Amino acid sequence: MATNSVPIETHTPIVDSRVGYDVEKVRRDFPILQQQIHGHALVYLDNAATSQKPRAVIEAISRYYERGNANIHRGVHYLSEHATSEHEAARRTVQGFINAADKREIIFVRSATEGINLVAQTYGRTHVQPGDEVLITGMEHHSNIVPWQILCEQKQAQLRVLPINDRGELRLEELPKLLTRKTKLLAMSHVSNALGTINPVKQIVEVAHSHNIPVLVDGAQAAPHLNIDVQELDVDFYVFSGHKMYGPTGIGVLYGRQALLEAMPPYQGGGDMIRSVTFEKTLYNDLPYKFEAGTPDIAGAIGLGAAIHYLDRLGLDNIAAHEHDVLVYGTEALSAVPGVRIIGTAAQKAAVLSFVIEGIHPHDIGTILDREGVAIRTGHHCAMPVMAWYALPATARASFGCYNTEEEVERLIAAVRRAREVLG
Ligand SMILES: Cc1ncc(COP(=O)(O)O)c(C=O)c1O
Repeated sequence: MATNSVPIETHTPIVDSRVGYDVEKVRRDFPILQQQIHGHALVYLDNAATSQKPRAVIEAISRYYERGNANIHRGVHYLSEHATSEHEAARRTVQGFINAADKREIIFVRSATEGINLVAQTYGRTHVQPGDEVLITGMEHHSNIVPWQILCEQKQAQLRVLPINDRGELRLEELPKLLTRKTKLLAMSHVSNALGTINPVKQIVEVAHSHNIPVLVDGAQAAPHLNIDVQELDVDFYVFSGHKMYGPTGIGVLYGRQALLEAMPPYQGGGDMIRSVTFEKTLYNDLPYKFEAGTPDIAGAIGLGAAIHYLDRLGLDNIAAHEHDVLVYGTEALSAVPGVRIIGTAAQKAAVLSFVIEGIHPHDIGTILDREGVAIRTGHHCAMPVMAWYALPATARASFGCYNTEEEVERLIAAVRRAREVLG
């Protein structure tokens, strides 16, 4: 395995989490954390799969169904108008969250996965021709691999891969070689779910744009941890899911540069995405509705808006600094356990601690930890090519959120030591 000598962007937390971040107070906002599992206080360390929901989000969704439920954009009655304005307010909240230039650039989708499929099947189908190439990276989640494979099969195009090094960082020195006249799009993750690597998005976008290649960034693992500014990053498309950032499942966001979205054909046909329909011809609606066919997840959008307000109250810089402390503490403590190897040792990492223990299958570690009330994920993390690169069938993964503590990391380490005693 080659090592990467190219320096990567630094991500230094701005606010010291030990000043003014009261994690115990944060924990009290999450009802689910107050329970016992198998007779132990729950230690929830599966945040990269999905995060828990604060009371503010749960209540926003309940309030909508108890007092505000109606279909949007179609009624003249009070509830319909109110639901429409709440849904649009959520869109403006998302716009502010990622600093998009215009609210029409915010498309509500089901998830990050749907956002990527949308771009592949609209922008991709229009711009990728036989013999062209789509470039992804060696650390992508299956959601940012398979839609491009499907597109490449449909269009007889080639999928190319920017490799990673043994620390789990992108080998940036390979990038110029892989960006050719045939490359029609670069799709990459902001933060790796399997390794925790934070990628130098801005730097990569600059290189891609110098070749006139647009960039889609999968921000599913970045949105809960980092401040995102799509204008500063200069990305063309950016996707994320509500449920990984303390919001509900079933809602996600596709950001797209307005000029690109305007030129793209619709993804799905149906109600709301039209201006007029006859049997002969349909005229499509304006942005963002052109890409929002059918009744959307109204409660989901409102819940996502509430999650963003919650994140704003805590401050993403504060959260990042706190999680950084927990990650550093966990990395040191776990490295000290005999037989443990940490997978993913990039210089810039966020909130993910993937590891293996010599001679023990990760599923067995996960099962023993569960009996101790410690919830982690084991498996390939929907990133089988990453596992193949490390020649591993699976890893155990602890992933942190705004409510995790160093005491919980100690519970993790104690449980890992016990797993070694039982299984080693
Ligand atoms: C990096 C990354 N991209 C995409 C996804 C897909 O997210 P969703 O299943 O919410 O669409 C995930 C989910 O784990 C992820 O970690």
